[in-house]
Order: sequence, then structure tokens, then C-alpha cells
Amino acid sequence: MSFDEPSAWLRERVEDENKLSQEMKTFISNLPKQKGLIASNNYEYEGFWYPAVFLQGVLACQRHFQPQSSDIFLVTFPKSGTTWLKSLLFALLNRRRFPIDKNHPLCTTNSHDLVPFLEMKTYLKTPNPNLNYLPSPRLFSTHMPWTALPESIRNSSTGKIVYLCRNPKDAVVSLYHFWTKLKLGETNKGVEPNAMVKTFESFCLGVTDYGPFWRHMLDYWKQSKENPDRIYFLKYEDMKEQPTMHLRRLAEFLDCPFSPDEEESGLVEDIIKLCSFENLSNLEVNKNGKLSFVGIQNNSYFRQGKTGDWKNHLTGEMVRKLNAICEEKLRELGF
Ligand code: A3P
Repeated sequence: MSFDEPSAWLRERVEDENKLSQEMKTFISNLPKQKGLIASNNYEYEGFWYPAVFLQGVLACQRHFQPQSSDIFLVTFPKSGTTWLKSLLFALLNRRRFPIDKNHPLCTTNSHDLVPFLEMKTYLKTPNPNLNYLPSPRLFSTHMPWTALPESIRNSSTGKIVYLCRNPKDAVVSLYHFWTKLKLGETNKGVEPNAMVKTFESFCLGVTDYGPFWRHMLDYWKQSKENPDRIYFLKYEDMKEQPTMHLRRLAEFLDCPFSPDEEESGLVEDIIKLCSFENLSNLEVNKNGKLSFVGIQNNSYFRQGKTGDWKNHLTGEMVRKLNAICEEKLRELGF
């Protein structure tokens, strides 16, 4: 397979571990390994599972990240609505620089190309990148579990974290569709019949990217309870149900509340509309564009944008199994 630059570097390393540095090859050779869905293998490091190339980004970020007190981190478990929350936070934080109209950057650029992913982009090719070019407050995104965040972030009392997760039953269905689309291109024709079962089993074992999902969610949940001024814990389902309320709360949490004039002008609703699934998924850039850093089709990040699609994909037995895991591990979160 041939790739377009600049996505070639990352795609090659996701698919072929021989392209990793010798140092990384030696490092992963001692780690527990399972077959990956998107990458060829996932590796367990300190209780969580990663494709080797993203683990390389995690390690570089841990070593070199220099926080600023105004930093904002969007942390998500994969397939929980990262693309959506990136869009909302970008629009919210930059609303004075970029008015919400048809010339907004989100109308021509996918949010993954506007909000840098720490370990999946920023810290990959250059282990110690210069981030001075980013305007303040810097908005970063990551899938890193709490325990993998750089100590400089965990031990700080400044820098805010927005954590987004989703009903695991919908997350696993979304992962299945994402995976099959990446593997097979534009259509799901010819998907191997047991692809859903494979995805589901890996997900329940906790070995899909950044798994186990229950520990990922629970660690941030506990942190948010201990430190509610610093960590905002959000569920996709709640954001779907009451988007304006949560956007207002996020604005307050991030110390940029909507002014009476902004409220009056309908800005809250305008941001929600700009970032809605219907609007973003129908933009030319998201229908036919590709992400600059990995070459994935932007439309892979937009499928249905609904809650409850698991009913159409999971068997009764799968539902019972996942419910039992949620009941045992995530009771506090109400999934
Ligand atoms: P579905 O596959 O269930 O449709 P992520 O961005 O973390 O990869 O998550 C992808 C999921 O978020 C997909 O879920 C996708 O459709 C949904 N999504 C993307 N943009 C959205 C939006 N603007 N509003 C709501 N959901 C969105």
C-alpha cells in the first residue's frame, strides 16, 4: 500500500512494527502482547493496551511535556465522541477569534486537524516538539488513561481536564464500524462475518486501544470526584440530551462563561448547531477530506451520531456480558 505524505509516516508504523525505532522495538519486546484491531498488535504497559506507535507517543509526552497553567486537555475513551467535543471546545474557546459563521475554521477543517492529539500526533515524529506556536489557552486532546498522563499534568493543581466517555455498548459498536471501515475502505462489503464478535471480545477483555475501558473511565471518574474544579466528567449521552446546558457548564468550568450579550445573541445555540452531527458530517471537508496526520478519511469519524444503536448490532448474549461488566466495574457511573 502506498500513502500520501505527511500521513505515510504514521500509517506505516501503525501497520508495520518493523518501521519503529530500534529503541521502541526493544522496549515493546518485553511487554505482554495481543493481536490489535487497527494496529497489528497492542501492548500492555502499566495496565493499559496500546498500539506500539502510540505508546511511543505516550512515552515521549511523559518525558517532555511542559504544562502551562492555562492548558486545557480533552481526554476521551476512543469512539466516545472525540471529534464532536473537539469541535465544541475549539468553537467555544476561540469564539472571539473565530465568529460562528460560514467562514469558521470548522467549516473547512476537521476538528482533529485543529486540536492536536498529544500522543497520537504531537509527540510522534518529534519527541520534544516546540509547542510555543499554540495560542493560549492551549487545547490538547488525548486518549491517555489518567495514570499515563505526564506527571507534570497529574501533579499540577492547574490546567483543566474535560473527560468524555460513552455507553460502552455504543462505543464498541462504533469501534466495530470504524475498524471495518479502515480495513475495508469506503463500504462494509466483504467484512469478515465474525468481525463484530472479534471486536466485542477484545473490547470485553480490555485489550482494544487504551483499554480496559472500565479502568479508563473509573480512574477519571474518581479524579473528577476528588477534584471537580479541575476535571469535568461528561457522558456522550448527557451531551446529546442537553447540549446547551452542558456547553454553558463547560464554558463556566473553563472560566469563559457566556456573557449576557452572547446569551442574548443565541451564541450557545449557534455553537451547538455548528458542531451538530448533521452540520459537520455534511461539510465537503468531512465528506471527502482526509486527516493530515494519519490520512484517514474524515467521514470515518461520522457514522450515525446517535445513542442506542447497540440494539441493532449486539446479540442478547453480548448485551448480558457487557451489562455484567458494567454492573461489576462501572456501577457508580450509571451505565
Ligand atoms: P457512531 O459510530 O455511533 O455514529 P470519536 O470521535 O471518539 O472517534 O467517536 C466517533 C463517534 O462520534 C461516532 O459514533 C460518530 O458518528 C460520533 N460523532 C461524530 N461527530 C459527532 C457529532 N457532531 N455529534 C454527535 N456524534 C458525533
